[in-house]
Amino acid sequence: MNRHWRLETDSERIGWLHFDHQAQPVNILSQDALEELAAVLDRLDKLSLGGLIILSDKANGFIAGADVKAFREITRPAEAESHIRMVHRLFQRIETLPFPTLAMIHGYCLGGGLELALACTYRIAEDSERTRLAFPEVRLGLFPGYGGSVRSIQRVGHLAAMQLMLSGRSINPRSALKIGLVDQIAPDRQLRAACTTLLAKAPPPSQNRLLQRLLDQAPVRHLLAHMLKRQTAKKVRIDHYPALFALIEHWRRQGGNQSGMYDSEARRVSQLLTGETAQNLIRVFFLQERLKSLGHLSDFKPNQIHVIGGGIMGGDIAAWCALNGLRVSLQDRKAEYLSNAMHRAHQLFVYKLKSKRLIQAAMDRLMPDPKGYGIKHAEVVIEAIYEDVHAKQALFRALERRVSPETLLATNTSSIPLETLGEPLAEPQRLIGLHFFNPVAKMQLVEVVHNKGTDPLAIHQGAAFVRRIDRLPLPVKSSPGFLVNRILMPYLLEAVELIEEGVPASLIDRAAKDFGMPMGPVELADKVGLDICLAVAEKLAPVYHTQVPDKLRELVGQNRLGLKSGRGFYHYAHGKKTDVPPPARSSQPSDLTERLIFRLLNEAVACLREGVVENADLLDAGIVFGTGFAPFRGGPMRYIESGGWDARRRQLDTLEQRHGDQFRPDAGWANLRRA
Ligand code: NAI
Repeated sequence: MNRHWRLETDSERIGWLHFDHQAQPVNILSQDALEELAAVLDRLDKLSLGGLIILSDKANGFIAGADVKAFREITRPAEAESHIRMVHRLFQRIETLPFPTLAMIHGYCLGGGLELALACTYRIAEDSERTRLAFPEVRLGLFPGYGGSVRSIQRVGHLAAMQLMLSGRSINPRSALKIGLVDQIAPDRQLRAACTTLLAKAPPPSQNRLLQRLLDQAPVRHLLAHMLKRQTAKKVRIDHYPALFALIEHWRRQGGNQSGMYDSEARRVSQLLTGETAQNLIRVFFLQERLKSLGHLSDFKPNQIHVIGGGIMGGDIAAWCALNGLRVSLQDRKAEYLSNAMHRAHQLFVYKLKSKRLIQAAMDRLMPDPKGYGIKHAEVVIEAIYEDVHAKQALFRALERRVSPETLLATNTSSIPLETLGEPLAEPQRLIGLHFFNPVAKMQLVEVVHNKGTDPLAIHQGAAFVRRIDRLPLPVKSSPGFLVNRILMPYLLEAVELIEEGVPASLIDRAAKDFGMPMGPVELADKVGLDICLAVAEKLAPVYHTQVPDKLRELVGQNRLGLKSGRGFYHYAHGKKTDVPPPARSSQPSDLTERLIFRLLNEAVACLREGVVENADLLDAGIVFGTGFAPFRGGPMRYIESGGWDARRRQLDTLEQRHGDQFRPDAGWANLRRA
């Protein structure tokens, strides 16, 4: 009895093999689904079919890929290799069936799903916005391992296939047709007919011959591989993202030899899969899923919101919500702020939506509302006025009388305790913080701030709202700096201290990037604005029991505020840094990277001890998605764990002896030992 696959045969003797994974909301190639597919193939051998169409019964798509969760359990390369070789044999059986096969694709067709489709003779994709095809494996530190690296090259040629696999980008059906990844596209209503017609005609399968023969030859491929490696190395480092380089090397060596390529794919992907980078990236993938799932604790699905304060944050939050389909009223006491916000929103819509009709529809959803008429209809009201306790309290006092009893009240404050803002409210339990990061359109994380008295329903509704606008919610306790700023600030302050000691800013930034941070701390401080950094640092300094470095005050005093004023730690012209590149690495203090990272790690341990977030996984998720902390290292707590608690603690002790109190280990380290 089949659970996941169902075979029907029609009057033309075409088999329709339906995939509907019984344990998952999306189709994934789990071990049991693969085994069942093998059993179906055994039966197919006995039926004399004229053709076979593989399709999905899930409304959301064809197949989302391999069972990534199971990959976390695989620890030995030999185990990974035997799994991969099993799938190779299975897909080879599909490829060598005595009749033509066709994958009928709708919705997403990703990773292993695309590899299965490529093993079929033909592919037809539904011509719709929701159809997306991709090899996202590189994002997990892998490359396609179910024969995809071989068959994609056969179907679309060496260069297009390498581009697809190296970028991990998804493409729409039209682009897929253009490069030959699918043979036809058809609207939903004609999809089935297109499939049966193609099977009846059974033309020779598409093969990309252009350039193919040339690149089958080793010397040309070697040359191109060399260029690809150079291009890739400009973007990422081999020790941070080995999969990209492994893929290029795999192709360079075996690209002209099919059987050698299957073998090399199995060996290389199993090495990658059991390596630390892929395991960390897979973990981060699940952390992201975890954050998403926090949005499902309530079925709150607001359609109408009101934002008060149309400055940098309020304006951008309003625009982002309108982009994501909500009706938004935006209030400010000054008309000029509203017109600026509308202008920025328009720019965002043009960039994201492209089509005139969609841009207009988004603009129509965003209403300037200086008098606050939208308040009484809003399901969520977000306050984002300037950071002043009394102004915010006065606003909430007035607001509570005007909103409906069900409205969720939220503040975007970055430093005022929730309990202080809730003081004037009759029902403070309905107030939460929704702490967005700047720039709103880029930063995925939103901290959902709560305290002891907060109604759990309000927290769940806050998280559901954050998901509704396609951001990642992280519940955090109302405490100074919440989670992200609290952990990031010591790392920035250490960078400033290093500058005071005479270490060039560019060396500091390079050390952080070498560790895997997306941007150096000095660059980041300049970008955020040194005045904002100073304000946050002054609020948080008592929490860290440290002083704010004089250098920071000095620069702000000289109006050197960073990127926005053209000068901060660096000089800028037309928004670009004009400083000279960093000096030789030999002039770098030997513990430079450690000093930066251990300030951050120690603060992470403190936050965990204080219960700012619920657990180490959520802390890692917050820091990876809120700061871009090297995802391939899995997050700060994972980084401590991977180096061994004792060893990391000893590194911190050494830093304390060398550099003083700012490295005093937090009491929370002792809890880690017990954990
Ligand atoms: P901003 O100064 O750019 O904007 C504040 C806006 O609020 C101004 O347009 C002002 O006219 C308006 N406003 C003030 N009082 C008002 C009132 N009673 N009614 C209606 N409008 C009023 O400030 P920004 O940077 O957007 O910050 C807003 C909030 O977001 C602050 O609480 C800040 O701490 C927080 N925040 C700021 C971040 C940043 O990077 N700028 C990041 C995360 C949070």
